Amino acid sequence: MLVPVLVQRFLPDAAAVGDEVRHGLASTPARVASKFFYDTLGSRLFDAITALDEYYLTRTEAAIFAAHGGAMAAACGSGRPLIDLGAGDCAKAASLFPLLRPAQYVAVDISVDFLRDALMALQQRHPALPMCALGQDFSVTLDLADAVMPGPRTVFYPGSSIGNFTPDEALAFLGRARAACAGGTLLIGVDGVKDRAVLEAAYDDPLGVTAAFNLNLLRHVNALIGSDFDPCAWQHVAFYDAPASRIEMHLASRTAQIVRWPGGERSFAAGERLHTEISCKYRPGDFEALLHDAGFRSVQRWTDARGWFHVFAARA
Ligand code: AVI
Repeated sequence: MLVPVLVQRFLPDAAAVGDEVRHGLASTPARVASKFFYDTLGSRLFDAITALDEYYLTRTEAAIFAAHGGAMAAACGSGRPLIDLGAGDCAKAASLFPLLRPAQYVAVDISVDFLRDALMALQQRHPALPMCALGQDFSVTLDLADAVMPGPRTVFYPGSSIGNFTPDEALAFLGRARAACAGGTLLIGVDGVKDRAVLEAAYDDPLGVTAAFNLNLLRHVNALIGSDFDPCAWQHVAFYDAPASRIEMHLASRTAQIVRWPGGERSFAAGERLHTEISCKYRPGDFEALLHDAGFRSVQRWTDARGWFHVFAARA
């Protein structure tokens, strides 16, 4: 059996992370980047979100893969390295192995620590497939260099995570993804514009799981910078901004309060918001235009019966 190769490119040190969080808290309006949702509990809460009736994204995308996997494999070509961005538990990419028959599987996430166990388990099921875990913040750089076999690759970015970038950031990201394809194909999942009620229920569910996911950010920030955020003093806010075609998530202060951390503090008025996430929704033509702007061509698209979610294959 082969053994997965583990490569950690760059992990920001605690001081840099602390500076980034404190800078966001000092900004007006205050903000904390959505990447800070994902500590251990936050990742579990996100998994719970994907099981909610209201959060249609994950299951709708899975249905599109199940219905059109063969055509997607034809668009991507088989026998190429498969680069899985934000791989997590590697399950989505692994479900495509029988169709894509990759020559190598490269799971990319911010830290190899998030990937190690999943990749070891996957290697047992595919003992002859070369695998690599690459720890890298691909929202900033995507340097595959010697981790990946030469030749065209399939870059896989499911889940509509592209929506958590602004359109400008998404364009820059797509440029990096195109370079990483090395003449191969990008396979990407993108959530579509739809009824406000459907969108808002997906980000403000009646069980309060998304609220817990949002509030957990405060616990994580406390752990990162030693602040004294009290989650009980904050309220989950999620709404659809139709002109910007995006969900915004915030935490609203329930009272006037001062949050302190070693060397600093910030006062919040009652109702003042801390911005935590955007989740952009795209009309298919708008996303196709973004792909073309990033230099992709031969764009193909598959959707579900309601036209709620889209999977694009685009040649680099
Ligand atoms: C990871 N990302 C695609 C999710 C989304 O739908 O924007 C994160 C999320 N935020 C709230 N619910 C889920």
